[in-house]
Amino acid sequence: MKTYLVTGGAGFIGSNFIHYMFKKHGDSIRIINLDALTYAGNLGNLEDIAGKENYTFVKADIRDGKAVRKIFAENEIDVVVHFAAESHVDRSIRTPEVFVETNVLGTCIMLNAAKEAWEKEDGSFPEGKKFLHVSTDEVYGSLSDPNDYFYETTPYSPHSPYSASKASSDLLVKAYVDTYHFPANITNCSNNYGPYQFPEKLIPLIINNALHGKKLPVYGDGKNVRDWLFVEDHCKGIDMVIENGKLGETYNIGGHNEKQNIEIIGIILDTLQDLLPEDDERRKNISRDLITFVEDRKGHDRRYAIAPDKIKADLGWEPDTMFAEGIRKTIEWYLENEAWMDQVTSGDYQSYYSRMYNV
Ligand code: NAD
Ligand code: DAU
Repeated sequence: MKTYLVTGGAGFIGSNFIHYMFKKHGDSIRIINLDALTYAGNLGNLEDIAGKENYTFVKADIRDGKAVRKIFAENEIDVVVHFAAESHVDRSIRTPEVFVETNVLGTCIMLNAAKEAWEKEDGSFPEGKKFLHVSTDEVYGSLSDPNDYFYETTPYSPHSPYSASKASSDLLVKAYVDTYHFPANITNCSNNYGPYQFPEKLIPLIINNALHGKKLPVYGDGKNVRDWLFVEDHCKGIDMVIENGKLGETYNIGGHNEKQNIEIIGIILDTLQDLLPEDDERRKNISRDLITFVEDRKGHDRRYAIAPDKIKADLGWEPDTMFAEGIRKTIEWYLENEAWMDQVTSGDYQSYYSRMYNV
């Protein structure tokens, strides 16, 4: 049975990926989920599969080489899907060190453990082994020409401590490929949205604040552009790269869904108005008057936009979900899962939010 070691599987994209993989491949696969359960990790995301025989959760830190090597020693791992990371740009501006420790050192420890477990005596690697490193379009920096896009050949130019740490981790993966012929792929994708996203990120934060009649903080002039990708489309892309991606290659995954932040907020408010029943108390909270322009993010990248030409041409990947449909599905999910939101917005998140937004 093909065995996947998924790191960061209790986070936003990782948990969506585990759900996607079981839906797509059924019980023909086995998944081990390695997660340290930081503030961003939530086993509630995977409650429905917790008892499955072919699913195992291991609480461990990717910076802990001993714990990681133990997983490889006790299991015949075929594919590593490496999501675990510190993922929030604003937090990286406040506390860069943990981003270097987890994203750079943690990735090196994962690479080394896989290499030790897989490498044959002659230095080659068995057929079928693969390390898929999940990375971001932020490594390419910011686009100033409105007609330009990020390609796999675009030079790296990260600006935030987060993107610098992800760029470093990508370079380590490339170094393993070049030095050891290590079997790896890198995927660089744009902004994901969908169910189970932690509400420090723009879309769930705006949905949650609007439902509670709280201010909607817009950094700078609100005209920064992000390229939004429905998380399930991203998961499909990762699975296709695992199956058919050429070893050593990088694939950009993006939704061709460029939008200014202020447009996104308008769409969320309109969709909430449309979805909430007439007699729902929360309807009266939903208003453009909540939009509040706040101090800009330091070093705020102006525009990201991915050209997913290579993954389309080589592997046949295309996004299935256009933004209008994806955002509706996402908002419906948050409306149906208020208990999830209440659980994750308690504790650490409360103190983070008041420090971050001075409230
Ligand atoms: P997330 O913050 O929601 O989840 C991260 C997960 O990693 C959590 O479950 C957390 O507990 C775990 N984790 C953190 N540090 C760990 C450690 N030291 N050891 C073990 N587990 C640890 O992140 P996400 O949004 O799901 O992003 C997943 C990956 O995708 C990241 O590598 C991120 O850089 C990348 N990415 C995200 C996006 C996006 O829009 N969210 C876009 C491009 C790339
Ligand atoms: O591009 C891929 C990246 O997308 C991933 O690598 C990161 O892990 C992920 O967090 C995301 O980074 P962003 O910084 O683009 O996402 P965020 O949701 O934090 O912000 C999206 C945009 O919205 C950005 O221009 C900043 C702005 N913003 C964000 C927040 C939280 C606001 O205007 N107000 C806010 O309160």
